[in-house]
Order: sequence, then structure tokens, then C-alpha cells
Amino acid sequence: MRLFLTMSAEDVNESVFVRACRGQDVPYTPVWFMRQAGRSLPEYRKVREGIPMLEACQQPDLVCEITMQPVRRHGVDAAVLFSDIVVPLMAAGVGVDIVAGTGPVIESPIRTMSDVDKIAELDPAHVSYVSEAIALLRTELNGTPLVGFAGAPFTLASYLVEGGPSRHHAKTKAMMYGAPDVWHALCTKLAAIAGTFLQVQIDAGVAAVQLFDSWAGSLSLPDYERYAMRHSAAALGAVADTGVPRIHFGVGTGHLLSSMAQVGTEVMGIDWRTSLTDAVERVGDRAVQGNLDPAAVEAPPEFLEPEIRRILSDGAAAKGHVFNLGHGVLPDTDPEALTRVTAMVHELSRR
Ligand code: CP3
Repeated sequence: MRLFLTMSAEDVNESVFVRACRGQDVPYTPVWFMRQAGRSLPEYRKVREGIPMLEACQQPDLVCEITMQPVRRHGVDAAVLFSDIVVPLMAAGVGVDIVAGTGPVIESPIRTMSDVDKIAELDPAHVSYVSEAIALLRTELNGTPLVGFAGAPFTLASYLVEGGPSRHHAKTKAMMYGAPDVWHALCTKLAAIAGTFLQVQIDAGVAAVQLFDSWAGSLSLPDYERYAMRHSAAALGAVADTGVPRIHFGVGTGHLLSSMAQVGTEVMGIDWRTSLTDAVERVGDRAVQGNLDPAAVEAPPEFLEPEIRRILSDGAAAKGHVFNLGHGVLPDTDPEALTRVTAMVHELSRR
């Protein structure tokens, strides 16, 4: 008799997480956490010691280990690739660093059409370390699905134009309003880079992809529709025919949800400020992901349990529900609290 130690690709496609993304029946609600890799885990800080963030992202063995850590520890239903939204920009030749405690910092901010012209396309060969890491993970994960991701054009553009993280996105909006030709040329390039990066990850074997539009919430609805929506649609449209579920997520985007849903993905990520019940009504016939407040993870059980029950019951009205936080894990979160949330979601949702 032969013993099969690794699960096949078909098994990943029948995993609880992928089935929920597709709106198929599941025995319990799957759960994973945005920013589960890295951040609060002591075993992460240990392996990252002395290695700058963007260097770590280029070491397949290390990427594999860091991606595995939260899966081993919490028993979550999906892994998320350890990487960053600026990795494909770096690979396309943009001078970028990730500064601890600050975030991405751009060497020469993009302000003019000639700056835009200098940004290259993404050559898949320049992110071969990502493909290698995913190949390692497919064996290591043994049937647990892996989520790949990219940054949405608006969010990437805001880093490139501001030169780093920004609260008001004033320079970004100055370009949008004052030089729309430069803006759209920039976002067209970023959509192509994001689309290629998603395709590379799908070719290497991720089970789902997520587009992070972290800062889209700073746009009004008309501005989102005028300046951002078509570029996100292009990035996600590049992988529409792959059959791999696509998750579309933004922070503070309750007012944009109907338009973000129109971009057309299988799953809409819902931030924690938005009522899940309202969201389910507004996103149409698709699955939802979310949306526990990241700060509630450490709340006492008398608050947390009813809150998780409420999210599960609100989510049950959607075509499918993947439990997650309404944004990423906060840096100081006690990892044991995440393990407890995972167990609670599984127990309270078991049918
Ligand atoms: O979700 C995961 O655990 C997988 C890996 C992941 C990282 N970044 C690793 C990372 C993912 C999915 C991202 C996406 C990302 N990166 C987003 C979109 C998601 C979101 O939170 O809105 C954004 C806006 C970025 C840009 C970025 N990179 C920021 C704002 C920061 C934080 C800077 C800081 O130190 O507070 C980073 C750095 C970063 N990316 C870290 C990790 C684990 C921390 C770096 C470290 O540990 O040294």
C-alpha cells in the first residue's frame, strides 16, 4: 500500500477556504488573518533578526518558513505569502526600501510623465524567488491553501507619488486632479505590474489572490470611480480567466463597496468599520471576507464570543463567508489571542 504524504492540487481546490470563496457548502467557516505572517510572532522576529524586510522577501527558504509559522501555530485555514506590495515595484526597478515602523520609502518619488516613463514592466524572471518560495510552500503546506496578493494601483501610486506613507494623500490627489494624464499613465503601468505579479503567483500555484487597496478609503465615491476603479479592474481582470478566486479588499471603504464589487471578483473583503449585513446586501452575489476589528482580538471572551457569533451569523447571509479581521493583525497582538479566535470561529460555525 502506498502512503500519500502530500495532498494534490485538486485537494487544495476542494479545501474549506477555496470552497467558501466559491460560495460552496463548507463544514465550518474558514479563517485566516491579514498580516498573520510576521508582526507579532516571536519566532518571526527570531528568523528575521538582522535581515532587512525586502531582502527577507527574496530568500525562498525564509519566505517559506515565515509563511508557515502562523499556519503551524494557529491552525488557520489559509496561509498568506510572506512578501509585500512593494516587492513587484522593486523588481521593476523602482528604488524602494521598507523602513521598520514607517513602511515603504521611495528613493525618487514619481511626479512627472518622464518619471512614469522610467518605470519598467515587471519581468516574471525578476521575481523568480517568489515562484521558488511558492513551490517550496506547496509541499510544506500539505493541502492548506496559499493566498497570493498584490497592491492595487491607487495604493501603490500613493506610495510612489508621496514618497512614503501618507495620512492625507495630498500629493497623490494633486496629481490626480492637476495632471490626470500623468496619473492614468502611472496607474496603467501599476495595473500591469500588479496583474503580472498576480499571474506569476497563480502560475506557481497559489490557491487564491487578494488585491489590497489599503488607502482607497481616502477617496470619495466619484473620485474612486474616476481615478482608481478602472485600474483595479485591469489588475484583477488580468487573472479573471484562471479560475483562481480573487479577493478585493480596501480599508475604510464602506462608501465605495458597491463600486469595488462592480470591479468583479469572487470575494469582497469588508473592513471592520462597515456593517457586514449592509455589505452583504451591497456586494451582490459573491462571498465576503471579514470583518472582526483587529483591536477586538484581545477583548475578554464575554465580548469576543458574541461578536464572533454575530459576524458568523451576518456572514451566513452571503454566498460564502471567510472569517478574517477587518484589516491586518496589529503589531502588538498577543499571538495566543489569534489562536483562540481561530478555535472559536471553527467551533461556533461547525454545522
Ligand atoms: O499578510 C501577511 O502577513 C503577509 C505579508 C504582507 C506584508 N505586507 C508583510 C510585511 C502583506 C499581505 C503585506 C501587504 C502590505 N504592505 C499592505 C497592504 C495590507 C495593509 O495592511 O493594508 C501595505 C499597505 C503594505 C506596505 C507596508 N509594508 C507597510 C505599511 C508596512 C509596515 C511598516 C511597519 O513596520 O509598521 C510594511 C512592512 C511589512 N510588510 C512588514 C511585514 C511583515 C513589517 C516589517 C518587519 O517586520 O520588519
